Amino acid sequence: MSTSLDLTAPTPAAPAVADDGVWLACIECGETYAPFESIRYTCDACDGLLEVRYADPPTFADFEGRERGVWRYADALPFDEGVSLPEGDTPLHHVPRLEDEVGVERLRIKHEGMNPTGAFKDRGMTVGVRVAKELGVGRLACASTGNTSAALAAYGARGGMETLVLLPAGKVASGKIAQAALHDARILEVDGNFDDCLDIVQDLAAAGEVYLLNSLNPFRLEGQKTIGLEILEEFMADHGTYPDRIVLPVGNAGNTAALYKCFRELVQSGALAPADVPKLTGVQAEGAAPMVEAIEEGNDEIRRWPDVETIATAIRIGNPVNAPKALPGIRNTGGTAISVSDEAITDAQRALASEGVGVEPASATSVAGLRKLRERGVVAPDEQVVCLTTGHLLKDPDAAFEAGNDPEPVPNDAEAVLDHIAE
Ligand code: F0G
Repeated sequence: MSTSLDLTAPTPAAPAVADDGVWLACIECGETYAPFESIRYTCDACDGLLEVRYADPPTFADFEGRERGVWRYADALPFDEGVSLPEGDTPLHHVPRLEDEVGVERLRIKHEGMNPTGAFKDRGMTVGVRVAKELGVGRLACASTGNTSAALAAYGARGGMETLVLLPAGKVASGKIAQAALHDARILEVDGNFDDCLDIVQDLAAAGEVYLLNSLNPFRLEGQKTIGLEILEEFMADHGTYPDRIVLPVGNAGNTAALYKCFRELVQSGALAPADVPKLTGVQAEGAAPMVEAIEEGNDEIRRWPDVETIATAIRIGNPVNAPKALPGIRNTGGTAISVSDEAITDAQRALASEGVGVEPASATSVAGLRKLRERGVVAPDEQVVCLTTGHLLKDPDAAFEAGNDPEPVPNDAEAVLDHIAE
């Protein structure tokens, strides 16, 4: 069956509800909506997920000559500028030792931890908070495993708006709570997991109490699309080709959906040949892997995992709400999904750190997943791969202490210190 989520789906014709060539469409039934007239997260008709659509999808030439960062890609976004700190333009690191060890032709690390609040969420929030202003809403809210709450708090503060965040009690890394606290969010700790928090915040949004800025909000994913645009532009500039594969951590599967949307729009405009689209490869922790289960079993629907646990608390998620957008992304690009143990995650975190790249545990799943897929022969030795690292090391100081060296007490005396280091 051909759907609007096919890699080669044609550019849609603008419906009457379009505003300057932009509208919302349901990915399930195709119903269309005006983008900024009223608040809507899912389809009124069938409850399906919504997507932002454009009459004029972007080409790379549209971006030339513009400053780097998320808003370089304004031609792929619903606005020309947003509430900005600014965000994007993150490094694409060469990691030669890891590249050798994994055994691929080329490995680059796109370190999204270098965004203003230390995670890729900032790319989504710069657009999402701009849309909130357009809609004239009062209070912003999200459920979060931590990073979304930090980004929402910072961008809400930047936009002069009230923010409310719902967090699973005892399961959020301290750096992230510290950010939400200092950026003046009201922090509500729920006795439940992330999926429970998301259920509650959706009810608050349905009651009209808050504007929801989780990745269920289609505008968030527009900002996150720019990760793909940056990777493609930079890889082509450096190496004269596009990467064969992009490996990324998966929680709610918003980023996977966003990258796929980026590729589809470039294919629509003719800027990217379908054969050049990187294989989207998702990685989850073994204790929270419903997407991997769906890919392995060939299911279109996700089975919600009621009990999830992993050291990678950012992706401790049992009900990835963007799965209907992300599963076609993995399948239609020839990608795959794999789960990795907490031990493998910590090993990968150390390996990245030993090349100077400091990431939080969830981020290291991409590298752990690539290692496992290479060992299994799913990833070939001649592949050019980009691994996404989604959050900064300082987000989760406790995990860093656990994975790293212990401090050594020494006397307050140079001779004694010399003796100690000689031991
Ligand atoms: N990596 C990090 C560091 C994250 O914080 C998240 C999601 C993901 C990966 C997964 O991304 O949901 O798009 O598949 N964190 C959300 C939060 C859930 O609340 O901060 P996804």
